[in-house]
Amino acid sequence: MRKRIIAGNWKMYKTVEEAKSFVEEVKGLVPVSDNVEAVICPPALYLSELAQLTKGSALGIGAQTMHDVKEGAFTGEVSPAMLVGIDVGYVILGHSERRQYFNETDETVNSKVHAAFEYNLTPLVCVGETLEEREAGQTVELVAAQVTKAFAGISAAQAEQAVIAYEPIWAIGTGKTATAQDANEVCGAIRATVSELYSETVAEAIRIQYGGSVKPDNIEELLSMEHIDGALVGGASLEPASFLKLVEAGAHE
Ligand code: 13P
Repeated sequence: MRKRIIAGNWKMYKTVEEAKSFVEEVKGLVPVSDNVEAVICPPALYLSELAQLTKGSALGIGAQTMHDVKEGAFTGEVSPAMLVGIDVGYVILGHSERRQYFNETDETVNSKVHAAFEYNLTPLVCVGETLEEREAGQTVELVAAQVTKAFAGISAAQAEQAVIAYEPIWAIGTGKTATAQDANEVCGAIRATVSELYSETVAEAIRIQYGGSVKPDNIEELLSMEHIDGALVGGASLEPASFLKLVEAGAHE
């Protein structure tokens, strides 16, 4: 069975005190489980301190984005080497908010996926359609194209280690969740794309999360679906009790 992965994307929320107290409260309560991996992706400023605080616990720490080169004259950016240097293990790449507000494209996402593997970071590669694209019946085609471009030049051995997050843009922060069936259908199409790009073995190994208004009261149904191996969660990851419920749901058989 694929190990589920529940990741909290805090986006641009929390003071440093709030971030630390969340992690202090949660880190000892995250189950050490073969079924689930739990990750928090805080604002970049807090990564170093939270990575220290969670050392030796089952709670992983991830970045929300990064640049694709080791160093250089890129004002304001954070490099993969810097993340690895402070013991960050994961990085969200190509989140729809990065694509929408910060000019990320399928090409920049692809070069960042390459950089993540070069530095042994586990990438959480985000794909998803807008409402207009869904209504026009383009979802599967569009998401398959995003996956194909994101993984261009990535080896099978690397792809097996990646996580793909399917986040329909119309479901993010809106309270509108895709039905579990719809989410599963698209995650299944993503798995089929990975199978075509690589092999059935890679498709069986790669983990696919759903994201978009995931909450404690809808996660069980989502996780019961064949192709959904976890969740990338915004709002419901901000409170310790809610985040822990999501992780506990992931730990169930
Ligand atoms: P919400 O869970 O707040 O809808 O956010 C989803 C998301 O964008 C996670 O990356």
